[in-house]
Amino acid sequence: MVELALPKNSRVQKGRHYPAPAGAKTLKSFRIYRYDPEGTGNPRWDTYDVDVAACGPMVLDVLIHIKNSMDPTLTFRRSCREGVCGSCAMNIGGRNTLACIHGHEDAHGSTCQISPLPHMPVVKDLVPDLTHFYAQYASIEPWLKTTTPEPQTEWSQSPEDREKLDGLYECILCACCSTSCPSYWWNGDRYLGPATLLHAYRWLIDSRDEATGERLDALEDPFKLYRCHTIMNCAQVCPKGLNPAKAIGEVKKMMAERVV
Ligand code: SF4
Ligand code: SF4
Ligand code: FES
Repeated sequence: MVELALPKNSRVQKGRHYPAPAGAKTLKSFRIYRYDPEGTGNPRWDTYDVDVAACGPMVLDVLIHIKNSMDPTLTFRRSCREGVCGSCAMNIGGRNTLACIHGHEDAHGSTCQISPLPHMPVVKDLVPDLTHFYAQYASIEPWLKTTTPEPQTEWSQSPEDREKLDGLYECILCACCSTSCPSYWWNGDRYLGPATLLHAYRWLIDSRDEATGERLDALEDPFKLYRCHTIMNCAQVCPKGLNPAKAIGEVKKMMAERVV
């Protein structure tokens, strides 16, 4: 299910159709959500018949091809093109993922639908407004907090303690998980969501951090943490193969252990 936070009373309308250029060899249609906040019209679905033989293998290659040769007004974010910056996160064929590592061959059917990450305000076309998402991430103070004097060289950590950060530090903050979480859809103003909570756990179990109690206090709230109902969408969509639901479970366990 894809729901987008759109301006009041707006309905997504049928948009323009961009036919493939003459001589195109292998055609595939891409139905893409378009929204211009400076225009007066409603959002619309534009359809592009793309000669995929002229593109690279990924959905991001298709979007770049459309922008370069069919419609320069199409707007989307991208940077690294190899799944490490998180900026090309969008909904492709009903699933949140990264356009740069999602093959257009994997998009089933003859038409592939592409829209921004669900339930977020839209800046333009495929670009969601992640201001609130980043503010929530900043709220968990994602940095090392210590009271002992800083060592001369570095804060050391045993290999075993370092291993505890595996499955957490790899998060690229793409927001695919949070925007696929029903609890975050309905309570995103107060529930921190899977991405931010995964990072909260990453700092809670860092052996070098000395603010564990303070961090747990900050999460002790009926909404920030406890709105996770273990629906597991987050773990299913994470393009890095991480499991935010498991991290959230560990935070809940730490909370319970400190009150018994
Ligand atoms: S497990 Fe929790 S965080 Fe993940 S999708 Fe479900 S409710 Fe959201
Ligand atoms: S946990 Fe996965 S899906 Fe969620 S923000 Fe991090 S990398 Fe993206
Ligand atoms: S462009 Fe960086 S993750 Fe896709």
